[in-house]
Parts: sequence; C-alpha cells; structure tokens
Amino acid sequence: MRIIKKIDELRMIIKDWKRNGYTVGLVPTMGYLHEGHKSLIERAVKENDRVVVSDFVNPTQFAPNEDFESYPRDINADAALCESAGASLVFNPDADEMYDSALTFVDMNKITKVLCGKTRPIHFSGVCTVVSKLFNIVTPDRAYFGQKDAQQLCVIKKMVKDLNFDIEIVGCPIIRESDGLAKSSRNTYLNPQERQAALCLSRSLEIGKKIITSGERNVKTVTDAIRAEIDREPLAEIDYIEMVDWNTLEPIEAVRKPILCAMAVYIGKTRLIDNFIME
Ligand code: PAJ
Repeated sequence: MRIIKKIDELRMIIKDWKRNGYTVGLVPTMGYLHEGHKSLIERAVKENDRVVVSDFVNPTQFAPNEDFESYPRDINADAALCESAGASLVFNPDADEMYDSALTFVDMNKITKVLCGKTRPIHFSGVCTVVSKLFNIVTPDRAYFGQKDAQQLCVIKKMVKDLNFDIEIVGCPIIRESDGLAKSSRNTYLNPQERQAALCLSRSLEIGKKIITSGERNVKTVTDAIRAEIDREPLAEIDYIEMVDWNTLEPIEAVRKPILCAMAVYIGKTRLIDNFIME
C-alpha cells in the first residue's frame, strides 16, 4: 500500500488521476482503523475509480485535557486494512505538513455548539478545518463519513453547502460489535469490566427505539427511559442524552421524524458516543 506523507506528492498523483478521467473518493480518518472505517472505504471503492484514505490524528480537534497524545496509532496495520479494502493510497501527513504555522481556521455557529459541542467547544472547528484542508488537497468527487459521529456528519454536510464545496457527502451506517457496542478506536481504552459496562449505550438506545416504535411521542418519556437504563450501570456517567431534529439538531419535545437520538457517556475515563436516527 502506498503511504504518502507530502501534500505536493499527493496533489501530483491526483492531478494524474483526473487527467485520466478517474473519479476520486476520500475517506477521512484518524487511523487505528477497524471494521467501521473499512465499511466506509469499501463503499468508496464501489463508487469511485480511485480512493484516498487520510490517516491523520488531527491535533486541532482535541482540547488540551483530551486524549491527543494517547490516541492509538498503528500506520502499518492501517495500511494493511486499506490494502484489503481496495483503497488506492493512504495519506499520512505529519502535523507540521498539515498546519505549518497556519492562522486560518474554519468555524461554524449553532449546530457545533449543541450535543458534543457543549463538552468539546473547540472540537468541530478543528474537524471543519482539517476536513476543508483535506477537501482542498484531495478535491474528491465524494467523501464518506460514518453515522457513528452523527453530529460530525451533519456539520460537514452544512459546511459543504455553506462553503460551496463541489463534493457529495455520503453518510454510512454504524458498524457494531456482535454484542451491540459501536466500533470505535477508543474502545481499546476499555478494560474488560468497562468493556462489559459499555454495552449500556447500545442497550439503552434499543430501549428508546422500541418505546418510539410502540407509539410513544413524548421525547422526555423516551429519554428518561434511556437515562434510567444507563443509570443502572455503576461505571457509567452520562455526559448527555438528547433527542433533536436530525436536519437542524434543534431540540424537539415531540417525536417528529427525522430525529437523531444521541448520547455521550463516560465509562470510567473513556468518553463513548452512540446514537440512532429515525428518518
Ligand atoms: P475517526 O474517528 O477515525 O472516524 C473516521 C470516520 O469513520 C468517521 O466518518 C466516523 O464516523 C467513521 N466511523 C468510526 N466508527 C464507525 C463505526 N463504528 N461505524 C461506521 N463508521 C464509523 O471522525 C474522525 O475520525 C475525525 O473527526 C475526522 C473526520 C477524520 C477529522 O479529523
């Protein structure tokens, strides 16, 4: 698998692809790839002639108290996964190559201030900035994002519309472990006891879904039931559980589709997120 470290080198390869009339898909990641990432890459491979996987732990989306330093990294294993998924190359720049004394950042109002944005106030500015840079470097026809990070998907769609990027954003379903836990690079932080406790996220969301399917329309009733299930787990501490309009991320009182029901829960020191969307 080709691992490209330099922006100029990547640009030359992409210009060459475009001269040949190839379509280009981009899968932005922070590496330590798993089946969730792989599902995005495989979809991109199906829909594009060439696929770039970016593998970059982006410092600007981590606050000083967060896990930038300890975030897991394994470029060789990542390259092997990309190869098996059929990607064309991996873009793995150093932080200096991406940010070389940069003063420009992309920021967004409103939808970056709710849900995860409350606990992580600078996070989405870092995400929007790095994704804009990747869009400008790779100039893809399509870019692939997981619904696992539902707010991120919503934010990127809005940024693409607001800044007139000529790129189709493709949202992909959440890939889970067989017991329901949403796959995440951060699951490696969990010890065996915490790994078991982490099941309360997906279990509680299933309860919420069932209550809605059986006809409940009061949002508070649904989120209270979800909260009660998480509260039963001693190792879990809720950051937020919220149900919002999936298009605007605005709070709702009655269940009116499309809805996003999203949560962030600490299991020990590890902050995990999960959600469901009903269209
Ligand atoms: P990362 O957490 O590595 O995720 C990369 C992409 O994989 C995201 O679009 C995420 O939603 C998707 N993904 C992760 N786990 C998934 C799962 N279980 N099922 C389906 N998709 C999943 O998200 C980021 O990196 C960064 O914020 C990034 C966009 C790369 C900007 O730095």
